[in-house]
Amino acid sequence: MTDYPYFNHLPKPLISEVKIRQRIRELGELITDEYRGQDLVVVSVLKGSFIFFADLIRSIKTPLHCEFMGLSSYGSGSTSSGEVKVTLDLLEPIEGKHVLIVEDIVDTGVTMSYLLKTLSNRKPLSLKVASLLFKPDALKQPLELDYVGFRIGNEFVVGYGLDYGGRYRQLPYIGLLEHEN
Ligand code: PRP
Repeated sequence: MTDYPYFNHLPKPLISEVKIRQRIRELGELITDEYRGQDLVVVSVLKGSFIFFADLIRSIKTPLHCEFMGLSSYGSGSTSSGEVKVTLDLLEPIEGKHVLIVEDIVDTGVTMSYLLKTLSNRKPLSLKVASLLFKPDALKQPLELDYVGFRIGNEFVVGYGLDYGGRYRQLPYIGLLEHEN
């Protein structure tokens, strides 16, 4: 608690900084092997993925371009509204390009299904997904994820980019929010 005096309730650690770092190194190696020698567009889904994205791209050892897409479905609470809003679109066309979507979490899968549909309509050469976290029990529709950092249970997690009411994104680990749900 002494390291984080600005939080009233310190989220209980679920995935440590060390484990996150190790897993991102592994994912980076897999992604590097897959796209070696090819140009890649990596899309950060804002806001939640920005920290994972920043760490992941530094572990990918092949040329890449960074793009950003803003999507939101949770508003200020802890349950999805089910309606996805585009808050920022890509700046460049992705037609004919290899595209890797980078997400912090796939929960119900509503956001990712929407994004896959939207981006596949733009005719990329390939379209794959890397998500740091995946909640298989919460999934509402079948979804293929190409790279997953960690599978977790149906619990509300914060930190490492994930928020509750806009807070906790700067926490360096993934934690369980037990008091504010
Ligand atoms: C979170 C997260 C994913 C989405 C996953 O975004 O970053 O984009 O929810 O949930 P789903 O699988 O149930 O659709 P959020 O809407 O909270 O916006 P944020 O990334 O700006 O925090």
